[in-house]
Amino acid sequence: MEFLKTDDGSLTLRHEVLGELYHSDRGAVGEAEHVYIRAGFDAIPKKEETAVFEVGFGTGLNCYLTYWRAVREHRRVDYAAIDLYPLAPETVAQLNYTADPVFMRLHAVPWDGIVHEIDRDQVFTLAKYKADLSAFDFSPLVGRFDVVYFDAFAPDAQPELWSETIMRQMFAILRPGGIWVTYSAKGIVKQALRAVGFEVFRLPGALGKRHMVRAVKPMK
Ligand SMILES: C[S@@+](CC[C@H](N)C(=O)[O-])C[C@H]1O[C@@H](n2cnc3c(N)ncnc32)[C@H](O)[C@@H]1O
Repeated sequence: MEFLKTDDGSLTLRHEVLGELYHSDRGAVGEAEHVYIRAGFDAIPKKEETAVFEVGFGTGLNCYLTYWRAVREHRRVDYAAIDLYPLAPETVAQLNYTADPVFMRLHAVPWDGIVHEIDRDQVFTLAKYKADLSAFDFSPLVGRFDVVYFDAFAPDAQPELWSETIMRQMFAILRPGGIWVTYSAKGIVKQALRAVGFEVFRLPGALGKRHMVRAVKPMK
């Protein structure tokens, strides 16, 4: 696995087979905070428990940032994530985001699709699914989530993961009023989202990038 330093000093990785970066080269942490935490998690009305689904757990950075946001705001979070290529522990150990043991605890959760408690106070639970997004059976998860962090590799690299078929599944797992966020604002992504019933909004992108997308599942 190749490591690269992004402009804010945080490391990212290049996928060995697909050749794609795991984050923006303008800043891994900056992008994660902008797209997934501020435009995603923070946009959900505060309530006792928030359910998050992440496509592409990768380095666990989005999950880690969500953990601390949740603890700081006294919000319980039920977090689930899918990844077909979980990172090797030796790779995770070389990332420079934090020395916080919580980060390693998130990575230590097995890829068994079972809900695991991350802390004794049950503030944060995590379920990790090692599976192919395009073949995953989402039926047990229908209507469960408040927010989807859609952090797949770029639509040019993996168009099959940005299809209408996948977006229909994302729509189905969200509650009415739930939101879906991603870093890409490509036309085909917005088209697929609209075609399955989302309301689509373009927001300013992370770290000088022009746009990102937030899609909302209508209440009715
Ligand atoms: C942009 S990276 C995710 C970055 C991650 N959210 C982070 O904070 O490090 C895309 C992720 O999608 C995963 N992936 C690629 N193809 C997949 C597939 N068919 N199904 C599920 N996950 C896939 C990769 O292993 C990678 O971890």
